Amino acid sequence: MMIPFYHPSYIYSNTLPYMKLFLDTADVDAVKTRLSTGLISGVTTNPTLIRKSGREVQDVYFDLVKLGIKDISMEIVGENEDEFFARAMGHVKSYGDHVTIKLPCTVEGIKACKRLSDINVRTNVTLIFSPSQAILASLAGATYISPFIGRMDDNSLDGMKLINDIKNTLTTNTKILAASIRDPQSVGTAFTLGADICTVPVGVFDRMYNHVLTDKGIEQFERDHAASSN
Ligand code: E4P
Repeated sequence: MMIPFYHPSYIYSNTLPYMKLFLDTADVDAVKTRLSTGLISGVTTNPTLIRKSGREVQDVYFDLVKLGIKDISMEIVGENEDEFFARAMGHVKSYGDHVTIKLPCTVEGIKACKRLSDINVRTNVTLIFSPSQAILASLAGATYISPFIGRMDDNSLDGMKLINDIKNTLTTNTKILAASIRDPQSVGTAFTLGADICTVPVGVFDRMYNHVLTDKGIEQFERDHAASSN
């Protein structure tokens, strides 16, 4: 058996366990069908996902609000702190408590994060690729930070190690929202290493149910049930 390289330090921490799944998509119909499982706590979007949906951004957001999604990460694009802040407040006005403002991990993004956190607006600092960035976002009061596992791995960096390093570094209330997840196995690993939330594409969520031994076991049980009911 392979000895895990990472130390699951969260086991020894005295913080309450926290484990949530978000869907990483702007496809409202796909969210609607998965919502009926009762397992989804939020949705994350970004400009690429919105573009992929082929819809106007505000239509997507309003539909997600109508579905009753309580936590929707809406990404703000801007040049400076004031622009980020003004656009964020526009979203707060339109979507109320449903909105989490997603900001990039830049000087201006972090400054806007601090201003929003100070007035209790939920924030998600995105495009996190190092513990240093996580520290800055967390000190700015970010509700969530989003380390991008898949994009790290795409660039021959270790996305899972980043999750673990951040977990071992932060001492604030900021939650680690593991993003850029490409497969079901990564969800388990990310939670084991300290993620508080995993945001997953719809296809990954669907595949989380599957195991070949479950299918095999069901077939066997169905056969045996039929035989003993005769
Ligand atoms: C979510 O918040 C991110 O925008 C998303 O997970 C990025 O995923 P990708 O790297 O697969 O585009």
